[in-house]
Amino acid sequence: MTEQRPRIPIAPVLSRASFVSVPGRRPRSVLDAGQVRKVTSGRVAIALALRRMGVKAGDQVLVPAYHSASMVPPVRWCGATPVFYRIGPDASVDLADVGARLGPATRAMMVTHYFGFPQDMAAIRAFCDAHGIGLLEDCAHGFFGEHGGRPLGSWGDYAIASSMKFFPTYEGGCLVSSRHRLDEIALRSAGLGFEAKAALAALENSFAHGRLPLVRMLLRLPLRLKDLAWNALKSRRAVPSGTDPASTPALAPASSDSGFDFEPHWVDKRSSWFSRTVMALASSTRIAALRRRHYLMIEEAVRGLGGCRPLFARLPEDVVPWQCPLLFDDPDTAFERLHAAGVPLVRFGLPRWPGADAATCANSAMLAHHVLALPCHQELRADELAWMTGQLRTALQPRVQAA
Ligand SMILES: Cc1ncc(COP(=O)(O)O)c(C=O)c1O
Repeated sequence: MTEQRPRIPIAPVLSRASFVSVPGRRPRSVLDAGQVRKVTSGRVAIALALRRMGVKAGDQVLVPAYHSASMVPPVRWCGATPVFYRIGPDASVDLADVGARLGPATRAMMVTHYFGFPQDMAAIRAFCDAHGIGLLEDCAHGFFGEHGGRPLGSWGDYAIASSMKFFPTYEGGCLVSSRHRLDEIALRSAGLGFEAKAALAALENSFAHGRLPLVRMLLRLPLRLKDLAWNALKSRRAVPSGTDPASTPALAPASSDSGFDFEPHWVDKRSSWFSRTVMALASSTRIAALRRRHYLMIEEAVRGLGGCRPLFARLPEDVVPWQCPLLFDDPDTAFERLHAAGVPLVRFGLPRWPGADAATCANSAMLAHHVLALPCHQELRADELAWMTGQLRTALQPRVQAA
């Protein structure tokens, strides 16, 4: 008999529990770090931050060699050149290497709190001050958390977050600054089509993962009618051959569909009403507590198994993880097995931007290859976690040699 395979959400999806509050200390987040503007993605916030730091054509921006390919296009959009710097085997910033890459055109440095684990921000802040360059704190993986008694996002001249990684929303990013005013940034609505898409996509994603069955039943007919109307509209708006598809812009940004593209026309658009409302109503105490609990469950499941260990030796008290990154001895076999079983995985750091290869940073290449990250978000159910950890154990068993 084949084992029933649950479809596990890789990112939070709306559930009945999404808005239930739980007792406990509210975690601090980037929203406590300073002024905040809510946009549609983290990469749009990077573009806005670089522009406000005065990054322009001919400048250089220091970018970690271990990165998401979505972090680089905003640098290029400003006309600047990314200069990749090294990180250590534990994903910490290699400040000696950063120092060696500084030049007269260096304008800013981007620093990422990988998987939600903070970098040594006091040292990095002092480095940027000493060299007169801007600091962009990338909290895409660290919406919640503290470091040195301050919320993440408060160390940089500007910080960015990718709220859709932490909240059950279809889109969302934040630009934050504890040092500069952000209220003069003009943001406007992306229109009714986008507002509707943001709400419906979040609901449909939840239904696709077996959540909110009652709401699904109630919305079955309206959603069917919506699909029919949408298909009819699409066939009327079909792009004639030879026309540039970009001339008929999509309702929502590509950043919501796990692509790495940067679309400049989203830079002046506000996050949807739906996403902002979900963020306001969701319990951050529940999000933080469950993410930490799920992380620790996965960590516990791999302890002593051999062949794999957590990338970070321990989960500090103030860290709210994005995912649970595990370092595998034989990542290719593990990936093949886990992927075939249907376990949702992130291989952060792939693809790498040209120029950020193993010759630039061997540790980045090693981490991009050896780390497989499992979801630990707040909307995972106990049965899903148990199934995933069971699959992990199976994937780590030695291959049986054919006789
Ligand atoms: C470290 C890091 N920074 C920035 C981004 C960009 O965030 P977004 O996808 O919201 O544009 C990502 C996206 O995965 C990321 O992993």
